[in-house]
Amino acid sequence: MKEFTHLIDLDDFDLDFIERLITLGADIAVNTKRYSSACFGKVLATLFYEPSTRTQMSFQTAMLRLGGTLIGFDNPETSSVAKGENLKDTTKIVSSYADIMVMRNPVEGSAKAAAISSDCPIINAGDGGHLHPTQTLTDLLTIRMEKGHCDNLTIGICGDLKFGRTTHSLCKTLSKYKGNKFIFISAPELMMPDYIKDIIKANGGTYTEKYSLEEAVPELDMLYMTRIQRERFTDANQQLAANFNLTCDIMKLAKPDLIVMHPLPRVDEIELKVDDDPRAKYFIQAKYGVYVRMALILEVLKNDHPVKLLTKGFGSYDCTNPKCVTQREKYLPHSFHRKGDVLVCDFCEAVTLP
Ligand code: CP
Repeated sequence: MKEFTHLIDLDDFDLDFIERLITLGADIAVNTKRYSSACFGKVLATLFYEPSTRTQMSFQTAMLRLGGTLIGFDNPETSSVAKGENLKDTTKIVSSYADIMVMRNPVEGSAKAAAISSDCPIINAGDGGHLHPTQTLTDLLTIRMEKGHCDNLTIGICGDLKFGRTTHSLCKTLSKYKGNKFIFISAPELMMPDYIKDIIKANGGTYTEKYSLEEAVPELDMLYMTRIQRERFTDANQQLAANFNLTCDIMKLAKPDLIVMHPLPRVDEIELKVDDDPRAKYFIQAKYGVYVRMALILEVLKNDHPVKLLTKGFGSYDCTNPKCVTQREKYLPHSFHRKGDVLVCDFCEAVTLP
């Protein structure tokens, strides 16, 4: 297993590294042309096993604006995956063509599984309901550019907080900044999981839960809206859970310097007329995604922060998560680390009882 600066999980990096990326992204946003040949001769592979507009195209734009070139697929059915090729072989081959690989895959833990057999750095562009770290980097650069700082903010997170991988990564990272207060706004069935709340508390942050946008909005410096992820629902109560809708009337209750963000795609959780409010930042947010991904490509190619992938402990146990990559790619080692009384899968982070 070769060592690279893979971006599988932002937790693999300290806040100094993340801040360096955001600062570089902010410079690239202002001085984009200065970086136009920084990746001359380099090849980026984008392997998208799941639909994407922003993540895929912003990575492609990022590499092209750095002077590099692209290979890849956006539909596995047009690659040899359709003939049954496993993740290991696909990764091994593509990493011998490319200098850096970006992958989105619906299977949880698949980015880490790809990194094990890769001969180049892997960037996780979303692995099922698990993680989406480059969305968090996009969000952080947006907050830096639009608020000037990522600390001492009252942050509303609204929508499907149970299945929304972007909200999990964002809360984990923003809780590392000092003085941030979180207000979670959702239906009880779709509230933020306890393990994220525990991380916020452990990092010294605070949170409250509310079931009404009208009640929460007046306090907020930033409101992060998300769509309801019906495709990931597992029971009927979740199907019935109330949708939240940000309207112009609710915006009248908000501070004049509120910023409204959304990872997009939007379904119906933000009224279209809100787009004309100068506090709506979700379209510029998607554009900041190009600049922060340019910064990320440059930092990853430096390869000076190798990431440890597996602990290889407790190999006789099976991960109990049916969506874990170890259930699909049977050649993978079973690798866990202990957390208190339980075992945590090194791929998908699901908990298994020993
Ligand atoms: N925000 C985001 O991940 O968008 P896409 O699914 O379009 O990439």
